[in-house]
Amino acid sequence: MKELIYKIVEGYEPTLDEMEKILSLNEEDAEVLFKAADEVKKRYFGNEVHIRGIIEFSSYCRADCYYCGLRCSNRSLPRYRMDKDEIIECAKEAVDAGYRSLVLQSGEDLYYTKEIIGEIVERIKEYSDVAITLSIGERSFEEYEYLKEKGADRFLMKHETADESLYNSLHPHSSFKNRIGCLKNLKTLGYQVGSGFMIGLPGQTLRTVAKDIMLLKELDVDMAGIGPFIPHKDTPLGKYDAGSAFLTVKAVALTRILLKRPHLPATTALGVLNTKYKDKVFFAGANVIMQKVEPHKYRRLYEIYPKDIKFEKSIREERKKLENYLLSLGLEISDSRGDALKI
Ligand code: 5AD
Repeated sequence: MKELIYKIVEGYEPTLDEMEKILSLNEEDAEVLFKAADEVKKRYFGNEVHIRGIIEFSSYCRADCYYCGLRCSNRSLPRYRMDKDEIIECAKEAVDAGYRSLVLQSGEDLYYTKEIIGEIVERIKEYSDVAITLSIGERSFEEYEYLKEKGADRFLMKHETADESLYNSLHPHSSFKNRIGCLKNLKTLGYQVGSGFMIGLPGQTLRTVAKDIMLLKELDVDMAGIGPFIPHKDTPLGKYDAGSAFLTVKAVALTRILLKRPHLPATTALGVLNTKYKDKVFFAGANVIMQKVEPHKYRRLYEIYPKDIKFEKSIREERKKLENYLLSLGLEISDSRGDALKI
């Protein structure tokens, strides 16, 4: 297995069968995979972690994803929208606290027209050359184009699962083809593009996970978020088990040795499971972490899946606390925007 892993490090493209074997390694044997992934990560990114600030600016969503607490059919969740000035103020505060990269994320909320989002992006950019990533779901080519012109740098939209029929059954409002079409449009327009998927969706197999990773490769993503599924009680998948943290880290590590250059976050969902893999993932390929920066009154309402909201401090204090935590693990904090690595 070690031989196969290092062949991949040197550029060999594994078959789906070989990938499945790697993904089924036990805890002891997976150490060699994690070590190889850590070496590749260090080669490209050194020991630095990028901290991205995320502003979850609206929890309204027109989509009806079977796994997500924000789905439009969930009537028990109180919804919020931040207004333009509130979002811009929040972004400025985050920039002042040291963030060089911000993610503007929301449910699929068409209240925010391209003009509104465009103005937000433009005004943040006037204040700072902070990298702006949008994560607002499926829109038209023309809207993506407009937002790129207004200054958006990056876009995050996970493919969620590479199994087309599973995708279509979990997303009654849209289709796999449309999702992939959007990702390709974003690439064409010159965005740095992030995709990703969940581990442990009901109906997923190791084969699917192998295909998920190959799809990231095909899409030539600049970033990829791989996180465990976490059940939310007010959704149709509320009674299923959470995805495995261990398998999540194996998937991150395999993605790192195969794709090499994408930014790979230690996902929030992996942190929520709070296992030893929460830290370990930084030594198995991950080099990014996201930190919420919107006002606390909104955070508990952005309930994609259940989680604890721990401290109520300022953006600056929370960043400091996270930095100290990462430093205590022996990692370093990047002070750059963390743009896509082109190799
Ligand atoms: N568990 C884990 N991740 C989820 N997401 C949505 N619902 C869940 C859930 N129940 C992830 C999806 C989506 C991102 C915003 O959150 O991957 O792309």
